[in-house]
Amino acid sequence: MLFSEACERNKQPIAEALERWLPRPARVFEVGSGSGQHAVHFTRQREQLHWLPSERAGQLAALQERIDREGRSQQAAGSHLADAVALDVTTGPWPPGRFDAVFSANTAHIMPAAAVPDLVAGAAALLVPGGLLLLYGPFSDGGRHTAPSNAAFDAHLRSLDPAMGVRDADWLTLLASRHGLQPRADLTMPANNRLLVFAAAGDAAGDDGLWA
Ligand SMILES: C[S@@+](CC[C@H](N)C(=O)[O-])C[C@H]1O[C@@H](n2cnc3c(N)ncnc32)[C@H](O)[C@@H]1O
Repeated sequence: MLFSEACERNKQPIAEALERWLPRPARVFEVGSGSGQHAVHFTRQREQLHWLPSERAGQLAALQERIDREGRSQQAAGSHLADAVALDVTTGPWPPGRFDAVFSANTAHIMPAAAVPDLVAGAAALLVPGGLLLLYGPFSDGGRHTAPSNAAFDAHLRSLDPAMGVRDADWLTLLASRHGLQPRADLTMPANNRLLVFAAAGDAAGDDGLWA
């Protein structure tokens, strides 16, 4: 199975942030679920959480392996981890239905810069009124890195592929605003990461039965 040390370190701080921000019940779509460690952990920690993970087609089988092995046991009361669906943000297909939140961790700096607007646009289109876009990872501010480790990471990524790189929170905020999402929070997380929270206009709809 795919395994991420970083996921093991950051999954509980992220879970605690989600606990504060997600409604209950909550339907969440995840973009770029990777190893699936976040999806498994969150649905074991939090009650009434319906989580739909996704990955690009080439990585989907590895993600589904973890879901099959770990995602069917020890789920919190009323929580459910769905089978993963294939999604490349540049081509879709985005899932049907509406979600209380779209979560994505450590994806914006990996996907090409040209794909990041697709991530934000696709996510915004899935949200219920008042729904949240939650982006976790390292982000710069106004073109400045917030820590030397993030600057080094950015340089490393760009040396591998100039299209990769740590994204700027101001740019993400601009992209979000183009799709009606307003910044609601910028949470400081361990290891110089952040959780950016953007909200769609309107009041959260609650459980409207749209989850399939
Ligand atoms: C560093 S991993 C993060 C995985 C997991 N979210 C985590 O935090 O450990 C980056 C993920 O972004 C995904 N990704 C890259 N480009 C993508 C795209 N165009 N559409 C969807 N996912 C993409 C990759 O498949 C990969 O799983």
